[in-house]
Amino acid sequence: MKKLTLALLFALSICSLSAQGYQPSEEVRRSQEQFSEDRFGIFIHWGIYSMYAQGEWYLQNAQGIQRDEYAKAADAFYPHRFDAEKWVAAIKASGAKYVCFTTRHHDSFSMWDTAESDFNIVDATPFKRDVLKELTDECHKQGIAVHLYYSHADWSRDDYPRGRTGWGVAGRNYKLMSWDSYFNFMNNQITELLTNYGPIRAMWFDGWWDHEEDATPFDWHLDEQYALVHGLQPSCMVANNHHVTPFEGEDIQIFERDLPGENSHGLSGQAISKLPLETCQTMNGMWGYKVVDQNYKSAKTLIRYLVSTASKGANLLLNVGPQPNGELPAVAVERMYEMGEWMAVNGESVYGTTAGDIPQQDWGCTTRKGDRLFVHIFELDYDMLYLPLECKVVSAKALEDGKELKFQRVKGGILLEVGKVQDKADYVVELVTK
Ligand code: GLC
Repeated sequence: MKKLTLALLFALSICSLSAQGYQPSEEVRRSQEQFSEDRFGIFIHWGIYSMYAQGEWYLQNAQGIQRDEYAKAADAFYPHRFDAEKWVAAIKASGAKYVCFTTRHHDSFSMWDTAESDFNIVDATPFKRDVLKELTDECHKQGIAVHLYYSHADWSRDDYPRGRTGWGVAGRNYKLMSWDSYFNFMNNQITELLTNYGPIRAMWFDGWWDHEEDATPFDWHLDEQYALVHGLQPSCMVANNHHVTPFEGEDIQIFERDLPGENSHGLSGQAISKLPLETCQTMNGMWGYKVVDQNYKSAKTLIRYLVSTASKGANLLLNVGPQPNGELPAVAVERMYEMGEWMAVNGESVYGTTAGDIPQQDWGCTTRKGDRLFVHIFELDYDMLYLPLECKVVSAKALEDGKELKFQRVKGGILLEVGKVQDKADYVVELVTK
């Protein structure tokens, strides 16, 4: 009987241990807080794919490219206009507080001086500069937090266990597939990234979905890899763009091309977790530089998207695809400056806010910070706006010029006398509430 009780107790304690699950460390929690305060980051998709100017999926999508022929782009990759100082200055000017840079995308090309593969910016190109080092040094100098994108999927290496994409690539020797070898390679690269480039606030993984539809579940050994990340830099958060609800050990939840709770692109049907949230979105239509894609969203649309993301309690990671010469496209830079001008005046209604009391409406949305409720008005056909509110409103003023606005208490909320708000990206009214 005694033996049985002990065994039961033991089993129960194991159960409670596993039910407790992953708890982020103090350091990670601080990063999560900072991250949520930031609300706005810039994504950068850059690699030798920019040479083909067809977006970052070109190697796969062109169907039938010989891997070794594609790789020749590296030998001509000489982005002589790359200037980390200018990039970071534009990022800062936009009002963004962090950058997420593609260190290695699905085509396998590494944008840093890695000892793990010669297919990298220093060994395989005439440029020979470690662009990641230059960029991270500059970010650390200018106070921009660094997140690193790292692809799990790989369309070039022989040892990568082939998944559902990458079939269009010719010339790979599948006889050499070896999970152990590939896993070891990734972990060694991750170790370099988290050792040689100063503080990295997040590792942003992508490509898990490559084995999502396997007949037998594919084990990515994420626990081990996440523990490696947290062990190397205790304040580094783990993010994974797998399009499903977060796994144990992850510190951010990502949504691709949609706001949390929306799913117009089919990649964001997953439930919203309690983790800090981030939506990544393109400024035009593609992530990597694509010559025909000049379909840039207007500054107005981008500002509204950023504000709407904040109104869902999430961050916006807005992408820019640098050109093969190393410059950020001029239109992208223009948009960044335009967003920054708006943020310089209205930033306090975005940074450090949480979702507002009223969900997204036809006229706009709301964000909140303490006792301040920010009403973001995008379009309004009338001079008055009815706001259904449970809290009591003490005062109302326009954020752009401090002008006091009149309001009346009515049943279930207030009627705000907005006046004419034509042609504004977002007219912000600050309500002090009780
Ligand atoms: C997708 C794509 C990839 C892009 C990423 C950005 O997963 O495969 O090309 O880097 O989304 O969110």
